[in-house]
Amino acid sequence: MKVLVIGNGGREHALVWKLSQSASVTEVFCAPGNAGTALDGTNVDIQVSQTDLLIKFAKEQGVGLTVVGPEVPLVDGAVDQFEAAGLCVFGPSRLAAELEGSKAFAKEIMRMAAIPTAEAQIFTDPMAAESYIWDREEARLVVKADGLASGKGVFVCSTRDEALDAINVLMRKQEFGEAGRKVVIEERLDGEEASILALTDGQSILPLETAQDHKRAFDDDQGPNTGGMGSYSPAPLITPEIMDQIIGQILVPTVHMMRKRGRPFKGILYAGVMITHQGPKVLEFNVRFGDPEVQSLLMRFRGDLARVLKAAAEGKLASVPQLDWDPRPSVCVVMASEGYPGAYDKGFPIRGLEAAAELPDTKVFHAGTELRNGQVVANGGRVLGVTALGTNLDEAKLRAYQAVKCIRWDGAWCRHDISDKSRRFVTQDRVEPPK
Ligand code: AMP
Ligand code: GLY
Repeated sequence: MKVLVIGNGGREHALVWKLSQSASVTEVFCAPGNAGTALDGTNVDIQVSQTDLLIKFAKEQGVGLTVVGPEVPLVDGAVDQFEAAGLCVFGPSRLAAELEGSKAFAKEIMRMAAIPTAEAQIFTDPMAAESYIWDREEARLVVKADGLASGKGVFVCSTRDEALDAINVLMRKQEFGEAGRKVVIEERLDGEEASILALTDGQSILPLETAQDHKRAFDDDQGPNTGGMGSYSPAPLITPEIMDQIIGQILVPTVHMMRKRGRPFKGILYAGVMITHQGPKVLEFNVRFGDPEVQSLLMRFRGDLARVLKAAAEGKLASVPQLDWDPRPSVCVVMASEGYPGAYDKGFPIRGLEAAAELPDTKVFHAGTELRNGQVVANGGRVLGVTALGTNLDEAKLRAYQAVKCIRWDGAWCRHDISDKSRRFVTQDRVEPPK
């Protein structure tokens, strides 16, 4: 079977790499892809938003499965168009993708299904939002743009002034455009975060292994929010008991409620959860693989990913046997351009990728890279996801950073503490690689 992956980031490189190892797959295309997807698959010069051209390409090539990577084409209805053209595609429909496309809609689904989440109010009028903030005794609030804002539309506030400022940015200055016309104001939760990703065909649910992201730019979770500066899997914070709660109280009722509302959800349901004293609560839903969570997850995935994704796309997930994972933990360190998550320059040649590629149990996933005259250059904010397996998290971390040391370009930087926050929860010393 031929497979097409849509997107050009680290998530898509990880998908292309793992799909190309699937026994059922003969060729993997990536549109538009990056310098890394060109190594593990074949890049196609069609942009993510050019759905008509992507469909034409998939038909001409006889593509048996298309995987839509990012949220924007999902929210815009790419899956509906592929299905209308009679093609097999992995991802939720436009109506189902609203779970990520509108935080107000996600809150409504959670309220109807009694899913534990932060208490929230929704506003379309800035004056009403401001007076709500003034009236609250508790100033620790989170203000969120309703629509998609590349992870930048969330303001975690400690004071009333910060919350009022967020309203100013989102609703009065409209710095996030349409996405901030409606806002969600919710109570600020305390606890530890984890990313729970599950495959679903709208009926059956198959949770993936757990993972944790590092959203803040700098060490010790300081600095501004980013798309994610690193990840590790598993997240030892999520014990089997907590996972059972997440499945029973969050994943099952969400999938059930979406079906009941006539928006059956097929694809990856990603719940960002906070483990609070009262148990797991949902911070947000995403409707696609997390980036960089999927880099550390797929490093551990064993088996035919294409078959699993195709079964989910076709509503046959119940026929898929248990997923097989490498028991060894993995760590993914994101290397970024100077200035990210703010403005940054592009075009710097990246050296040392060959040396890093020779290290054992290590894979360098490309995110913002491009091939120029045969040379890989940095072409985005998050440039690489350097990922390694180890017999324990310390070894996985060490190996990932050894690979990072091989790689350099002007202005390259990364966090130095990826996976450290797991230490408090780790109980297992060593896991041997599978035979
Ligand atoms: P979201 O995009 O909704 O996941 O928000 C981005 C980040 O903001 C999350 O990963 C959390 O660190 C933080 N956040 C979001 N909602 C809350 C909340 N209700 N309480 C505390 N932190 C939150
Ligand atoms: N790493 C967070 C996300 O993919 O949204």
